[in-house]
Amino acid sequence: MLKRTLGMTHQFSNIIGRSESMLGVFKMIETVARTNSTILLTGESGTGKGLVAQAVHFHSLRRDKPMVSLNCGALPENLLESELFGHMRGAFTGADSNKKGLLEVAERGTVFLDEIGEMSGVMQVKLLRVLQERRFRRVGGLEEVQADIRVIAATNQDLTRLVAEGRFREDLFYRINVIPISLPPLRERREDIPRLVEHFIRRFARECRRDVRGVSVGALDALTRYGWPGNVRELENVIYRAVVLAREPVVHLQDVPLDVAMPETVSLLSQDALPLREACDQFERQYVLRTLERAHWNVSRAGRVLGVHRNTVLAKLAAWGIHRPGGMEGKSATQ
Ligand SMILES: Nc1ncnc2c1ncn2[C@@H]1O[C@H](COP(=O)(O)OP(=O)(O)OP(=O)(O)O)[C@@H](O)[C@H]1O
Ligand SMILES: [Mg+2]
Repeated sequence: MLKRTLGMTHQFSNIIGRSESMLGVFKMIETVARTNSTILLTGESGTGKGLVAQAVHFHSLRRDKPMVSLNCGALPENLLESELFGHMRGAFTGADSNKKGLLEVAERGTVFLDEIGEMSGVMQVKLLRVLQERRFRRVGGLEEVQADIRVIAATNQDLTRLVAEGRFREDLFYRINVIPISLPPLRERREDIPRLVEHFIRRFARECRRDVRGVSVGALDALTRYGWPGNVRELENVIYRAVVLAREPVVHLQDVPLDVAMPETVSLLSQDALPLREACDQFERQYVLRTLERAHWNVSRAGRVLGVHRNTVLAKLAAWGIHRPGGMEGKSATQ
């Protein structure tokens, strides 16, 4: 069992996550990748749907064939149609040659239909037909073309709601909702954050040729507590910026945008939902951590800045369960 788990995490080495929910996702990918089942990936923006779609393709028997992606929300209906199905010469103004659509390009491979919830009603009907009959016609074409494709669809919308509202066809929904895989928002798997931070620091340090190797306790604390409405993509951007800005080999709180570093402070000023005591506690925690970082974790010096005895600072850290990096300036995110 252990061996199996290790094998699995190794297999999806570019998808970081050890939380229970992500292990569930890995297991699901492993189970369904080698089948031809249609997969529906759901999850908020930035949760990794694109990454999972790739993982499915590269763990499938179709991995040597192409995977083509199409963002169904990005194109007007007629363009989407000719992108997907291809067209014959003369089918419309500007169609000066025959062109293969993505369904043909992806023959024996995988088609990734991103933002499927954005597809127009007319396109939904056309797609349904392909999924039912595994055949289609190019725009302006008479001949039926066979489509041996595996479809992976993704959406950050609630398709059942769209169906209830009459904006998404129920029959198409059932066709694509064969194997649903839902990607949990980052705020519901905070235990994955330290590893993601480490992963992105390593990657951007290499890509940007920066000597950045870790993250300070205070910064990691803030990164772990923030709500991440933009999920992993937002975290990725924040770490990229931090790696570029960092003046030392360790990412500090001041390298992190203020609304991430002190969301309590920023949102506290615009909200009024918290009792004063709690608001003060949250502010105090962030402020003390920031001062400590500025003082390179010299507790006596931070105490002097804050106007309290060093024992008071230590007592607060103990109460918050924060361990002071032992004599070092920062602590690597490596666990
Ligand atoms: N678990 C993860 N491990 C490593 N990187 C991740 C993970 N999840 C997401 N990412 C990265 O975060 C970014 C966003 O992921 P992705 O594009 O797959 O999200 P998405 O769910 O498709 O978002 P959208 O709905 O906005 O298209 C990508 O750069 C991806 O590589
Ligand atoms: Mg995406």
